[in-house]
Formats: sequence, structure tokens, C-alpha cells
Amino acid sequence: MGTASFCFSGEVAIVTGAAAGIGREIARRLAAAGALVHGVDVNPPAALRAEDVGITWYQLDLRESGAVEELVAEIHSVNGHIDHLVNNAGIARDRALWKMDDCDWSAVLDVNLTGAFWMLRAVAGVMRAAGKGSVVQIASINGMRAKFGQANYSASKAGILSLTRTAARELGPRGIRVNAIAPGMIETPMTKDLPPAIRERAIAETCLARIGGADVIADTVLFLLSDAARHITGTVVPVDGGQLV
Ligand code: NAI
Repeated sequence: MGTASFCFSGEVAIVTGAAAGIGREIARRLAAAGALVHGVDVNPPAALRAEDVGITWYQLDLRESGAVEELVAEIHSVNGHIDHLVNNAGIARDRALWKMDDCDWSAVLDVNLTGAFWMLRAVAGVMRAAGKGSVVQIASINGMRAKFGQANYSASKAGILSLTRTAARELGPRGIRVNAIAPGMIETPMTKDLPPAIRERAIAETCLARIGGADVIADTVLFLLSDAARHITGTVVPVDGGQLV
């Protein structure tokens, strides 16, 4: 089975939540395709691995708006340009809404939606001045449908989809594309401890009778960031094996 092949030689990319799961695979694939990847995570890897060649790590909590602005300014001043942003970091705190406390709600909205907004706003300034750039935001199919126990998560991901469309409208005239991906259930640290019944239900929902790996999301990210997607903006691509069908 082949995977997509793109060239990002010398292009500068920021990937949030790059230390694990989907973000790790996106960062690794972009670096392998020649990009200078800046991996941002609240818990970056303690030691460099062979697969991290081409990735510079930064420890940052996306909930700190000032720190996000400073980091983007630093990456811009060192590299002279920022070509791509992948807003991937996300958390879940699942609970039925009548049991969901203030912290469960705020933590998920603050990381998944507000943190992504801080990063998008900071990078948009750099990209507008350059007159080019591409952005991919990782949403979820659960931002497009109802999901028991995910009032906070679904609302944050629906917000990401709306933010994507508005950003595409506002930034398009300056040559900047903004798209979203809505993954279905993907094998990552976020999902590895889910009860077997939930995994089985997700598999039963798919048309392909399987859960995808992080590679299927990374392939789609690279396509959307690349020039092959030069006329695609403001859209959401479900990558879910047909879970939404
Ligand atoms: P993960 O839990 O494996 O990795 C998330 C990464 O984000 C971690 O490295 C974590 O340290 C980082 N992070 C968390 N809070 C942060 C903060 N405040 N500041 C900076 N970094 C922070 O998650 P996974 O599964 O790789 O998910 C990646 C994205 O894909 C998330 O936005 C998630 O909502 C989304 N997604 C995942 C699905 C799945 O089935 N795994 C399905 C649909 C969407």
C-alpha cells in the first residue's frame, strides 16, 4: 500500500500537539518531506529520536496567549517565513453534560478552540504580510454530529469548523488557505484506553470495518497543505473510513 508523496523542501511548518499520536505523525511526515518543522507541545519529548530529524521542539501550553504570540514571533524571526500551520493539539474530558463540571468544559474549550485561535491569529499576521500560507485544523466527526458524553469536545470541534470557514473567507484574499480535517476514530494515545465496546461501536459505524492509524490523517494534512490543494479552502474533509455515512 502506498502513501502520498509531497515536497516541502525548506518550507517552515508549525505543528501543535506534535509530541504524540496524530501530531507526531504529521510532524514526522512533514519533516521527511523536507519541511523545517516546529513541534509545539505542552509535553515535548524528553529526548530526540531518530525520527525527529528536522523537528525543533518547543514546550508551550497553548492556553497562554502571550506565550503563543512570542513563540510565533521567535520562529518567524529565526526563519524569515512561516508557510504552514497545523492546529492539531486537542484533549477530551468526556462526561454526560449534567455531570460535566466547569473545569471539564473550560479545559476542552480552552485547548481545542481558544488555543487553536491564539495560534491561528498569530500565524495569520505573518502569512498576511507574506501573501501566502496554508493552514489545516484538526477537528473531529464529533463536531459534525451528536455524541453522548462529548458536549464540550463536540462544541469545541464545531467551533473549529466554523473558525476554519471564517478564516478562509478573511485570509483567502491574501493567498492563505484554511481547511479542516474531521477524523473518525484513530489509533492514538487519546483512544488507546477506550473501553472495547466503544471501539467496536466505532468500527461498526465505518464502511471499511476498521479504525485508521495516524498515517491516514497525516497523508490528508500533507495534501491539503500542498500546492496540489491550491484551489481548496474553507472546507472540511472527513477522514473516518465512512463513519459519518
Ligand atoms: P493525543 O492525546 O495522542 O495527542 C495530543 C497532543 O496534544 C499531546 O502530545 C498533548 O501533550 C498535546 N496537548 C494537549 N494539550 C495541550 C496544550 N494545552 N498545549 C499544547 N499541547 C497540548 O491526541 P490525538 O489522538 O493524536 O489527537 C490529535 C487531534 O486529533 C486532537 O485535536 C483530537 O481532538 C483530534 N481527533 C482525534 C481522534 C482520535 O480518534 N484519536 C478523532 C478525532 C479527532
